[in-house]
Amino acid sequence: MNNIIKYSLFFLTLLFISCAQHDKSNNNQEQIEKNIDALIRKMTLEEKLGQMNQITSYLNIEDLSNLIKKGETGSILNETDPVRINALQRVAMEESRLGIPILFARDVIHGFKTIFPIPLGQAASFNPLLVETGARISAIEASSVGIKWTFAPMIDISRDPRWGRIAEGFGEDTYLTSVMGAASIKGYQGDSLNGRTSIAACAKHFVGYGAVEGGRDYNSTHLSERLLRNVFLPPFEAAVQAGVATFMTSFNDNDGIPSTGNRFILEDILRKEWGFKGFVVSDWASVSEMITHGFAADDADAAMKAINAGVDMEMVSGTYIKEAKQLVGANKVKESTIDNAVRDILRIKYMLGLFDNPYVETNQPNTFYANNHLASAKQAAIESAILLKNDQQTLPIKSNIKTIAIVGPMANAPYEQLGTWIFDGEKEYTQTPLKAIKKLVGNEVQIIYEPGLAYSRDNNSTTITPAVTAASKADLILAFVGEESILSGEAHCLADLDLQGKQSELISALKNTGKPLVTIVMAGRPLTIEKEIEQSDAVLYCFHPGTMGGPAIADLLWGKEVPSGKTPMTFPKKVGQIPAYYSHNNTGRPANRSETLLHNIPIEAGQTSLGCTSFYLDAGFDPLYPFGYGLSYTTFQYGEPTLSSTQLKENDVLTVRVELQNTGNYDATEVVQLYVQDKVGSTTRPVKELKRFMRVPLKAGEKRYVSFELPIKELAFWNIDMKYKVEPGEFNLWVAPDSQSGTPIMFKVVS
Ligand code: NOJ
Repeated sequence: MNNIIKYSLFFLTLLFISCAQHDKSNNNQEQIEKNIDALIRKMTLEEKLGQMNQITSYLNIEDLSNLIKKGETGSILNETDPVRINALQRVAMEESRLGIPILFARDVIHGFKTIFPIPLGQAASFNPLLVETGARISAIEASSVGIKWTFAPMIDISRDPRWGRIAEGFGEDTYLTSVMGAASIKGYQGDSLNGRTSIAACAKHFVGYGAVEGGRDYNSTHLSERLLRNVFLPPFEAAVQAGVATFMTSFNDNDGIPSTGNRFILEDILRKEWGFKGFVVSDWASVSEMITHGFAADDADAAMKAINAGVDMEMVSGTYIKEAKQLVGANKVKESTIDNAVRDILRIKYMLGLFDNPYVETNQPNTFYANNHLASAKQAAIESAILLKNDQQTLPIKSNIKTIAIVGPMANAPYEQLGTWIFDGEKEYTQTPLKAIKKLVGNEVQIIYEPGLAYSRDNNSTTITPAVTAASKADLILAFVGEESILSGEAHCLADLDLQGKQSELISALKNTGKPLVTIVMAGRPLTIEKEIEQSDAVLYCFHPGTMGGPAIADLLWGKEVPSGKTPMTFPKKVGQIPAYYSHNNTGRPANRSETLLHNIPIEAGQTSLGCTSFYLDAGFDPLYPFGYGLSYTTFQYGEPTLSSTQLKENDVLTVRVELQNTGNYDATEVVQLYVQDKVGSTTRPVKELKRFMRVPLKAGEKRYVSFELPIKELAFWNIDMKYKVEPGEFNLWVAPDSQSGTPIMFKVVS
């Protein structure tokens, strides 16, 4: 058979298989819709409202069973005992009138048992595959106890590290968050929702929650429709495109409307514009909290507003089950609205295969902390770490270093390195840096461990002295500082982002020993550590790195691995700079770098003698680190990018090529970033926007071309007429190691 025939047959076969699969899934989908219709016809209004009611597992099993028997709940959150899950499911399947399975849910945010770095740390890897793998492993572990739905990913854009929940998301950037969110959904949901280890994902929190005023959780937001559409909505649209099964509304009110009562975002945008076919759950009691917001008068009003806005399932506040029957009777809620909500919930239950396989196998082999799970968690921690400073190549640690002082409250804090939202993680399985380093160096290096402080908020400075004494005897100091898990996450916001307790004092005292000082930071957010960075010879920022943080950090410190993480959000020098983000619009008076700063202003200087541009007298022009920043043990040299064309039309695809060389002595990976600026728009446009990125592994000395494809359509934005359009004109483009470097080259889009 000649090759042409062989390939044609191969492709025909592929086509046949994919058509057959398409038909099969269409048929399945048709069958599912028929089943749903048949079921809804049999359901009483009470049973329908039961499906829309999610309760917690905190009741005793008898009370839960009674509710299930009466068909008063469709989903239970926070039950993780497979035996209880099966027992409750059996009641639903065998003792409730219609035998509709319960959907068991849990916040599996960055791991179930094996804990991965916090999502913000994962974002620093700029590696969607790593995020997908982490989510897949989390799903494998969580589904093994019967959990079929997680409330992740959180894809709220946030530019405010005071907000404790910054830890749970992928940072400040719309494009990075869109890519990472989609990867995470793919990981949780697997190839098909009805896979044995697939769990439904939930895109949350819809929408704007990351922009809460002052970074105070649950607060108000004031985002214009244009800002919502250009910055905050795209990750959610990407989630719909990735097939996410569910959405969760956010706690905040935007422009005076709580998300849980916002029909514009839930119906007009999510359903009508994006065609979302899954279901929407409220956040915890966010339906009844509309009363506290002053948006609803009472439970009945809150239920009416949430149901009519398009919230299909109510999490825990129970107003639907209590009030919606009367609301339907009084014609304030249409029964067809209820039917649509129930249809969307049942669709996901069918797609998850719950009607056919409602139970969890309790005799399957335990997958928790499996070797490959731990290996992936370690790799994730390696790629999440950012080398912020490395003077005189202090790192990696050289073989002439024979005595090391390990200090700081995070060096051996198994719980604290796991980070927020680790309901099911166990600190007993955590591998801390202290233990991992001892294991790695064996007898080659003498380790003196003196924590100096017992925990991150420790204000007792008397224990600093022994740590300094230990440091004075060493060739090198490794100081592990940061924040405990409890200091970030939901409701854990901070007005001050300096190191807590006496940690800063500890660093100063260590610096005074004159010994080389390497500071390793484990935290849930960027901290304002300008001073401590100045005092350190090298700084590795690891966020909360999870179960395998210790071995990952040890390998990085000794150069068995090379840091490759880049800041997933701007690191401010001072809290007062917040919100600091790279993708801001320009002002009419951008900062002029020759401006005089606070300490150089002459006494009694004239009011207009300082240049009248946009900057802080006391914090200058720059953040501590820009978005996308991170060093390596090697160096990379970027060539000048070349473009496939400098004049393009809307339907064209721009190809950008750049030569990248590893000019140092270590094999390493560089995260190459492509930014674009639309120079003149019908509205003001960001000074730069990330449009592509790529992790590029290169051996020492190796050189290669990196190439990006950028469809011009992706330069569209919501313009002055609120139309999503590419506007012809000039664009700047950078290919660079971070959001502040590089020289722009120009291209034009013509109509
Ligand atoms: C409240 C949080 O805002 C949300 O993210 C979480 O999923 C729910 N509680 C359920 O625990």
